[in-house]
Amino acid sequence: MKDQLEALRLEIERDVKAAKSLEELEQIEVKYLGRKGQLTSMLKGLANVTAEERPILGALANQIKQTGLDLLASKRESLASSRYDAVAETERVDVTEPGIRPPEGHLHLMTHTIREITSIFEKIGFYRPRYPEIDWDWYAFEALNMPPDHPARDDWETFFMDAPISKKGKMVMTPHTSNGQIHELQRHEFPVRMIDIGKSYRRQIDATHTPMFHQFEGLYVDQGVNLTHLRGILDYFAGQFFGKGRISRIRPHHFRFTEPSFEVDISCGVCGGTGLVNKQKCKVCKRGWLEIGGAGMVHPNVLKACGVDPKKYSGFAFGWGVERVAMMKEGAKIDDIRILYQNDVRFLKQF
Ligand code: DAH
Repeated sequence: MKDQLEALRLEIERDVKAAKSLEELEQIEVKYLGRKGQLTSMLKGLANVTAEERPILGALANQIKQTGLDLLASKRESLASSRYDAVAETERVDVTEPGIRPPEGHLHLMTHTIREITSIFEKIGFYRPRYPEIDWDWYAFEALNMPPDHPARDDWETFFMDAPISKKGKMVMTPHTSNGQIHELQRHEFPVRMIDIGKSYRRQIDATHTPMFHQFEGLYVDQGVNLTHLRGILDYFAGQFFGKGRISRIRPHHFRFTEPSFEVDISCGVCGGTGLVNKQKCKVCKRGWLEIGGAGMVHPNVLKACGVDPKKYSGFAFGWGVERVAMMKEGAKIDDIRILYQNDVRFLKQF
């Protein structure tokens, strides 16, 4: 029986050594050391040996069992660690390899343009307040010297809110940023040098109009502000925003809140204000100038509505479209304003 036990020890050793997986080790343990394994059945034979031999063989059997368990344990460990070695080999990462860039976004063309306009005016001492984009009729029309029968106050032009009417009239989604003039003048802090940029809303949609668009409203009011100041600012903006050499001109026009009022044009960057390219009519402007928007000297009635004395203070205002000036930039090549708000990344990516 002693020989049988020794033979069993060798078998266990050999099998454990040859095993290649944890599953195999499991089977070996069951086969030799399990409840119905070979060692257990051999121990049953102890009943037939002499009383002197029994404890010796019993001890030997226990020793073999312990050896077997130890062998299994260390083999399990080495199999497990070599598995990690294999993983380390096949899943190795080269940290010096160039990575794959995640998709990167950027600001919308309108946000860029708003920031550019802001910084151009900040350089000459203008500040940018924020005024409501939903406001009372009084701020949007009445105080701007626009009488109740003014066409812009028609249902067809302006979005009116379904809200209670106050002493200041109905609530409107501001059809222009000119309401900012009223809020700013009511502060009675001079000099006023405001560049108010915000959203405007009108009932219109076509290649040059969207129901929501942006305007920037300039207002400079102090003692002794006159038309020459306006002319200077217009030329300054033309050169800063559109590029060196671009200039402005003004043409008489009519607005309720300015007197005198003007339409402002910027010289065309393609033909240099001549209207001709190689003796042919300029395709971009046709007449040398591109219209940018309205301006004028603040109407005395507007100052009075805000509690400002028109004999003491004077100033100019202008209000232009942010989308419009962005589209007027050379090389912008945007011929339909609606594309700005269609969220087509292929378009937006270009700017
Ligand atoms: N609010 C006018 C509009 O939306 C634009 C405008 C014209 C603003 C002349 C002004 C101005 O400040 O002086 O059509």
